[in-house]
Amino acid sequence: MLQIQENVSLKNFNTFGIDVSAKYFVEICHEDDLAELFMDPQWQHVKRLVMGGGSNMLLVNDFDGLIIRINIRGIEHRINHDEVFVEAGGGEVWNDLVNYCVDRGYAGIENLSLIPGSVGASPIQNIGAYGVELKDVFKSCRAFEIATGQFKTFSKEDCHFGYRDSIFKGELKEQYIIVSVKLHLSLVPSVNLKYGAIEQELANRGISNPTIKDVSRVVSHIRVSKLPDPSTIGNAGSFFKNPVISQEQFETVHSKFPELVNYPAGDGLVKLAAGWLIEQCGWKGKVVGHTGTWKNQALVLVNHGGATGTEVYNLSSQIIDSVYRKFGVLLEREVNIIS
Ligand code: EPU
Repeated sequence: MLQIQENVSLKNFNTFGIDVSAKYFVEICHEDDLAELFMDPQWQHVKRLVMGGGSNMLLVNDFDGLIIRINIRGIEHRINHDEVFVEAGGGEVWNDLVNYCVDRGYAGIENLSLIPGSVGASPIQNIGAYGVELKDVFKSCRAFEIATGQFKTFSKEDCHFGYRDSIFKGELKEQYIIVSVKLHLSLVPSVNLKYGAIEQELANRGISNPTIKDVSRVVSHIRVSKLPDPSTIGNAGSFFKNPVISQEQFETVHSKFPELVNYPAGDGLVKLAAGWLIEQCGWKGKVVGHTGTWKNQALVLVNHGGATGTEVYNLSSQIIDSVYRKFGVLLEREVNIIS
């Protein structure tokens, strides 16, 4: 029997720590609960929001509907020669899955250490860090189709992964709930050191032949030094995407700002570092009321305590305006705005 609670504070369920409440709240621990919930006519016309770790959202108002928190647990693995297939429930904490794999020597997600959020949310925005994206190791996911109550398996190709993007953010937005994710990992230690800061930190530690445990430790160290810990300073990681622009637009901006940080993005496109653009507009470490940008990474907006979602949202609008005025580049929010 599902326990539906009323008037629940969401403060501890979103990493921004925004104190709004939900009219109704339910936790889903088994996939069968989804069918029970969605087949119940009582909930069919109520506004709904599915939540995992609440680490990629900004709650702007009280939620006048039903919050469905996915808490489906369990991690299993199957070894086949050098390959390992690891399947985890959507409600598992992403970093617990990383530790499970790193401890057993299953290589592939060590660069994704310490990313906040749940396993079920990981394919939605194709989480990525330090030269690796989820899509590099993704095998499939199982999802519940809200309209029909059926479960469907999505292969990597079905998911249309892109930079912080997938079919679950586009065409199929809000139509499916991801209940488990299967990864294709390897028993053969191969480490990805493409990201310069990892190599540098390994060298500082005198490690020349790193294990995946070393990489995980180094990535965790870099993250902790750059990014605020959501358990003490509310935040949702990068608030904006790094903008991807045409070569032509890049040349115009670059001619005015030769130090512009940029990376080739394929197909004649160039990716810019949003954190750099924001810092150049004078926002880095700035405190605005109860909110602001993080002192070590301007791409992260923070709650210094007691911020409202509206305050954070307004700050993000001011940042978008000033970056546009200075560089002619339009930043896009990466965090989901729930209003
Ligand atoms: N930079 C600045 N000022 C800043 C921040 C960054 O000049 O305040 C410059 C850095 O010096 C560097 C460049 O911008 O030259 C890139 O910075 P960084 O390596 O910190 O990475 P990022 O592009 O800002 C992305 C991801 C992060 C991920 C890191 C590491 C996005 C939107 N963000 O940030 O992901 O951890 O790379 O791979 O792609 C997240 O999605 O929530 C997230 C934290």
